[in-house]
Amino acid sequence: MPTWLNDAVFYEIYPQSFYDSNGDGIGDLQGIIEKLDYVKELGCNALWLNPVYDSPFMDAGYDVRDYKKVAPRYGTNEDLVRLFECAHAKGIKVLLDLVPGHTSDQHPWFLEAKKAAKNEFSDRYIFTKTVWDAPPEYRMMCGICERNGNYMVNYFSSQPALNYGFYEVSHPEWQLPAGDPACQETVEAIKDIMRFWLDKGADGFRVDMADSLVKNDDDKIATSRIWRGVRDMMDKDYPECALVSEWCWPERSINDSGFHMDFYLDHYGNGYSRLFRFGEWGDLAVFNKNGKGKLKPFTDEYLPRYNHTKENGYICFMTNNHDMPRVTAYLDKQAIKLVNAFIFTMPGVPFLYYGDEIGMRYQADLVSKEGGFSRTGSRTPMQWCEGKNLGFSTSDEPYLPVDKSADAPTVENQKDDPDSIYRVVTDLIALRHKYADLHGNGELEFMTSGDSLAFAYRRGSLVMYFNPTSEYFEIDTRYDGDVVYKIGQAEIKDGKIKMQPQSFLLVES
Ligand code: NOJ
Repeated sequence: MPTWLNDAVFYEIYPQSFYDSNGDGIGDLQGIIEKLDYVKELGCNALWLNPVYDSPFMDAGYDVRDYKKVAPRYGTNEDLVRLFECAHAKGIKVLLDLVPGHTSDQHPWFLEAKKAAKNEFSDRYIFTKTVWDAPPEYRMMCGICERNGNYMVNYFSSQPALNYGFYEVSHPEWQLPAGDPACQETVEAIKDIMRFWLDKGADGFRVDMADSLVKNDDDKIATSRIWRGVRDMMDKDYPECALVSEWCWPERSINDSGFHMDFYLDHYGNGYSRLFRFGEWGDLAVFNKNGKGKLKPFTDEYLPRYNHTKENGYICFMTNNHDMPRVTAYLDKQAIKLVNAFIFTMPGVPFLYYGDEIGMRYQADLVSKEGGFSRTGSRTPMQWCEGKNLGFSTSDEPYLPVDKSADAPTVENQKDDPDSIYRVVTDLIALRHKYADLHGNGELEFMTSGDSLAFAYRRGSLVMYFNPTSEYFEIDTRYDGDVVYKIGQAEIKDGKIKMQPQSFLLVES
């Protein structure tokens, strides 16, 4: 297990929208290098970059055309190596995004695979026997290439699924069993790509759709076997490099597959969505001040998972990511401060999505860009300062328009504002680094029943008290202690924690 993960705080960067250093309207690697000091000032010591590889950008780069080449719009491979070096010099790790489940339909492997004549790549993707063969239970693109067969899709139709075989083979005439030598070649090809970037200085990968490799594998037995092999490679050759899965099944991803971390994703109705986004625009969320959301559905789901996996890895809470509406679409400013208090004091490894530290707003009405659709509104340019494109780019045609509101938050106007989300985020990240009890593997014990609207949990010598509602609450406490941090109005008095609406208290006992 890479030791640095225990005190890691990640910052997710959507490269096209972060900082444009050459005025072409699109963020780039040099732009990220120029903002590393900013990342450090936030207290983040690790980055996750969304895909930076060559791509036709039908899905914002999750449709890779060349895994070993940086997309020219972002720079060159040398720029990426320079980013690794500059980040390392500042104590910042860099995780790339690995997309193992599918490629672009313009990837050279696919261009070969779709040819009629059998060749080295014919089995790299999943094709049916003939075009007349398109079982409805599978997502297929039909009748669009010279090869007499339909190809299986992993996401958009321009993203053919790579072939890792089938756990249960239901159509032996075109499905290979997982473990077939051709499928093993796919595994080796992905490992080769990982080695390519790890050898150049990357510190690991966020793995896209990590559960999607082997098909007809509901329990993920064969998929886990593949990742276990990858983990063996990491342990042997890259022991300080890390893998985080987009999976949200930590028992499988961490315990069985060997991922060091797994994201707690926003699946409607699951524990994560209950906290911030549940109901009609968050009206049933725990952190909505209307007090309609109980913590219990979250603790019922999260705690068993946490207890079963905490010895082997970390469950990751994120403020948001590039696939969800920003939390500003659901909750008010004070609630968002409490959300951050929660995320940065829970176990695991926290991820901060660029712009969430200043409370960037979800831009609901944008036309889809690069396969973003409703996600586009969370992918707008970072808002740095007043002026053209809020400091993102000097171009007249930025990647996406910036927030046009007169009161759009920027780093410049939030940084010195004591009432800002920025202040809370940076304070809490600093406290997380300072107190070992708040690190990834520190203990966690909920002290209030899941039915109570105000709640508390303890991590070693620290207790976090939350009142997310608009009502006054008192929590009995058997602990006395010193207030370390506070949001809103709350105090310890007469053996009680007295909490005004929407408040948070961090107490050391
Ligand atoms: C999950 C990624 O986060 C998302 O942005 C992408 O569209 C799909 N996987 C397909 O790769």
